Amino acid sequence: MAKKVAFLGLGVMGYPMAGWLSRKDYRVTVYNRTTATAERWCEEYSGDMAVTACAAVQDAEIVFLCVGNDQDVEEVVLGEQGILEAMKPGSILVDHTTTSASLAKQIAAEANTKGIGFVDAPVSGGQQGAENGQLTVMCGGSEPDFAQVESSITSFAKAVQLMGPVGSGQLCKMVNQICIAGLVQGLAEGLNFAENAGLDAHQVIEVISKGAAQSWQMENRHKTMLAGEYEHGFAVQWMRKDLAFALQEAENNGSLLPVTRLVDSYYAEVQALGGNRWDTSSLLARLKSKNDIKGR
Ligand SMILES: NC(=O)c1ccc[n+]([C@@H]2O[C@H](COP(=O)([O-])OP(=O)(O)OC[C@H]3O[C@@H](n4cnc5c(N)ncnc54)[C@H](OP(=O)(O)O)[C@@H]3O)[C@@H](O)[C@H]2O)c1
Repeated sequence: MAKKVAFLGLGVMGYPMAGWLSRKDYRVTVYNRTTATAERWCEEYSGDMAVTACAAVQDAEIVFLCVGNDQDVEEVVLGEQGILEAMKPGSILVDHTTTSASLAKQIAAEANTKGIGFVDAPVSGGQQGAENGQLTVMCGGSEPDFAQVESSITSFAKAVQLMGPVGSGQLCKMVNQICIAGLVQGLAEGLNFAENAGLDAHQVIEVISKGAAQSWQMENRHKTMLAGEYEHGFAVQWMRKDLAFALQEAENNGSLLPVTRLVDSYYAEVQALGGNRWDTSSLLARLKSKNDIKGR
């Protein structure tokens, strides 16, 4: 008999991730705060929906969660209406939300008192990675808990790694975001420079993407950046949340993050341009707005 699982949070990421679990023949019950999205999911995939998070999780062996930020996770998981009250002992909660490492530790401690396991499991690979079942998943938790959830995570991932105890997945995700921040700004500067220099920016990318400058962002984002399309992908508001976690953690462990801090301030400017929900590649829109000012 296939495992019974629940998936809570059918956003840009969660919707296709839950879809992959259904395709791999898990018995999936989904819950989404906005019910219409769960109804749409059930029309597209085989599975059930529940109208409350607690109803979705009560029989599940594994509960997957992918909501927005720390506050959202607290709201869904903790407290009297939280799913920890409804999950059965022996089940495991896998949180794919990118959160602080301290929240992961707090939830794991509360879950353990109820005999429930916990794995923090933030993801990388973006909307395309989720839709193609090709995410990278960075996990924190005990080895027995991880062993119980690893194969189900591979339904939507090309790489799944246990990084250490609870919180380690979130710390690894912070490294991921630190590495991306400066890189996206570099790509935005390169494309802006190419156009201002009178080059064909598409042709520039065609050649340099075969050399040392190649990156996921270059491959997957240059076309939409050059077209000025940002209504997709990984929202600036989520990137700023993630960079705040990294900047806070860096204060705790004594790391210098000068470029990360600078790029975070650029994202604040993108938000001021109306780009709260734009993809993170919208750093180019910020640069272009400065070009305009300079040209006037
Ligand atoms: N998008 C990416 O490329 C990407 C990549 C890697 C990691 N992540 C991380 O993955 C997480 C989800 O990102 P996303 O892009 O999928 O976000 P999203 O499209 O904004 O979706 C968020 C989901 O969480 C639900 N939600 C939010 N707050 C809630 C609450 N308080 N109670 C119940 N449900 C709540 C939303 O429900 P409604 O439909 O009702 O609003 C929606 O289903 C974030 O932590 C993000 O940082 C995203």
